[in-house]
Amino acid sequence: MIPVLIRNRRDMADWSAQQRASGKRVALVPTMGALHAGHLTLVREASERSDVVVVTIFVNPTQFGPGEDLDAYPRTLDEDVQALTNQGITAVVFAPEVSEIYPVLPNLTWVEVASMGDYLCGATRPGHFKGVTTVVSRLLAICSPSIAIFGLKDAQQFFILQRMTLEMGFNTDLIGIPTVREPDGLALSSRNRYLTPDERAEAARLSQAVQKGKQLLLETSPAHIPSVLAAIRQDLSSLTFGVMDYAEIVDTADLQPVLSAQPGQKLLVAVAVKFGRARLIDNSIVEIV
Ligand code: PAJ
Repeated sequence: MIPVLIRNRRDMADWSAQQRASGKRVALVPTMGALHAGHLTLVREASERSDVVVVTIFVNPTQFGPGEDLDAYPRTLDEDVQALTNQGITAVVFAPEVSEIYPVLPNLTWVEVASMGDYLCGATRPGHFKGVTTVVSRLLAICSPSIAIFGLKDAQQFFILQRMTLEMGFNTDLIGIPTVREPDGLALSSRNRYLTPDERAEAARLSQAVQKGKQLLLETSPAHIPSVLAAIRQDLSSLTFGVMDYAEIVDTADLQPVLSAQPGQKLLVAVAVKFGRARLIDNSIVEIV
């Protein structure tokens, strides 16, 4: 079945309202398109957990900083619709123009979750998460879904959006799905297509460094965070093609760096490495035993 394509927010809101009125559970899967197997896993999860799925495809300008890849970001709507059709999933695709989401420019209304965006990707991408929370709050307001599905590949984004949903009182449950990976461990990403063969081969080192950090955290009790970080950073600073952006260990509750860990505490080991114009991230959630 070919997915229904909706381009304006009024039609999207009306469609969602009709679904809810007829007792259907709506699931939302926000994306920026260039769909890969990771996105499709989220869509499959959404369809298993709901009656109707809305996949949004919107390259959100406000989450890109100056000099980032907004213009170059792949826009492949026809292929994306085809990929969903091939999955046999009955989904509605909401692909609005920028003016549907940002009707007046300059945009004056922002949603921002303070401090949780200060570290990790927020440190090198100032304003990025403010753009993400603003667009996702608008998508939630337009679609009023029962559930919204996100990937834990972007764990910082997920925890920030969870906090936003709680504090804004959106009536939507957020669900985080484990990262879908290539056989060598590289997390699937729309930006992997920018990698040269040499960079692609080396990019598997991100997940190896994260796994090493996770193991070290679980092996030593009490965990000595500075030496775990030193080990990860040593691995990532010895790359030939990649340049380490960050390697951090933060608490999942507030996303602030931790110096020591208590049993039961949930930590996020997170790294980012630049390969040319592609900035790749990876992470793992570790519960301290
Ligand atoms: P995008 O990068 O297109 O990702 C859309 C969703 O797919 C996000 O929830 C992301 O975490 C998830 N995803 C990406 N790669 C994945 C992988 N390898 N395994 C599992 N899930 C994966 O994230 C965004 O778009 C935007 O910031 C958005 C939330 C749509 C707001 O504009």
